Amino acid sequence: MREAVTLLRAGEVVALPTETVYGLGADAFNPEAVAKVFAAKERPSFDPLIVHIGSVTDLKSVAIVPDEISDTVNRLISEFWPGPLTLILPKHPDVPDLVTSGLPTVAVRQSAHPVFRAINKELGRPIAAPSANRFGRISPTSASAVSKELDGRIPLIVDAGACSEGLESTIISIEPREGKKPIFRLHRAGPITKEQLQAFGKVEKLKQVSADQPLAPGQLPSHYAPLTPLILLESPTDFKPEPGKKYGLLSYKGEDDSPYADIHDWEMIEALSPGSGKLAEAAIRLFFTMRLMDEAGLDCIVAEPLSETGLGVAIMDRLRRASVRE
Ligand code: TXA
Ligand code: MG
Repeated sequence: MREAVTLLRAGEVVALPTETVYGLGADAFNPEAVAKVFAAKERPSFDPLIVHIGSVTDLKSVAIVPDEISDTVNRLISEFWPGPLTLILPKHPDVPDLVTSGLPTVAVRQSAHPVFRAINKELGRPIAAPSANRFGRISPTSASAVSKELDGRIPLIVDAGACSEGLESTIISIEPREGKKPIFRLHRAGPITKEQLQAFGKVEKLKQVSADQPLAPGQLPSHYAPLTPLILLESPTDFKPEPGKKYGLLSYKGEDDSPYADIHDWEMIEALSPGSGKLAEAAIRLFFTMRLMDEAGLDCIVAEPLSETGLGVAIMDRLRRASVRE
């Protein structure tokens, strides 16, 4: 951890554990350090980064919270921070344009991971960190997954074991309404669910992105993708195998508890939450299992659908994005 702080101070990038996925961190106020994040990930500069703050009092150094939403922001922060909720707020002028890809807004969160928090506090500056994968690929939920993605491109990976959430943070922006609860625009579904947010505001989908708005690849359909093609089924009768191809089943509950287990002679069956089917466990294991199946030499990964309530929304979002081919 000390080495991580030293490297960050020197303008280097470091892979760090968070409760969601591993991030590739840099000093958010140092544009040259931030540029190294984009380079290591091969990330296009039009895709903005999330800024992580060490303490809530640092929020004012990266964002300017408008009066109309300050009560809501305070309530969200006291309920969900530190934790996997990212807020899109008007940007403070000190945040380099490279971090926000020239947008007038900045995405901010406070990580709950003890190792990340300790490094963030010791550094005493906000850390800009996207997920520590190459652009468009599966987010890493362990240090070994980071190493597979970025080995040789970065000086240090801080290994704190597996991530406890397994999916990237929920991202929202806030629209105030006169005399009513605000609207939360859901930019990315994640560990903090719609049901949890509803106590504080009305959760709605992101409005159609207009042609003149910069593209945000987290919102592009093809993302979080394995190299092996992935098909997301809607029902067991949906599957039309091609002869001679090797298919693996990415199942929710696994062999003994899946209506999809018997529809084909699968090369392999991997369960996200064997037997009982717990969404939290499925979320933790999703990217790990996608990686495992990607490395198994299959021609195609076939994923079962999950019901879209609670965490199921975020899991299905990632499966849909992984299943779209360019
Ligand atoms: O859980 C997480 O959020 C992880 C950990 C490391 O914190 N980070 C992460 O970062 O998933 P990344 O870069 O993979 O995803 C950040 C997403 C991108 O889709 C980006 O487009 C969006 O946040 N984003 C960042 N700034 C934004 C802004 N100002 N307006 C809209 N979207 C923004
Ligand atoms: Mg990412």
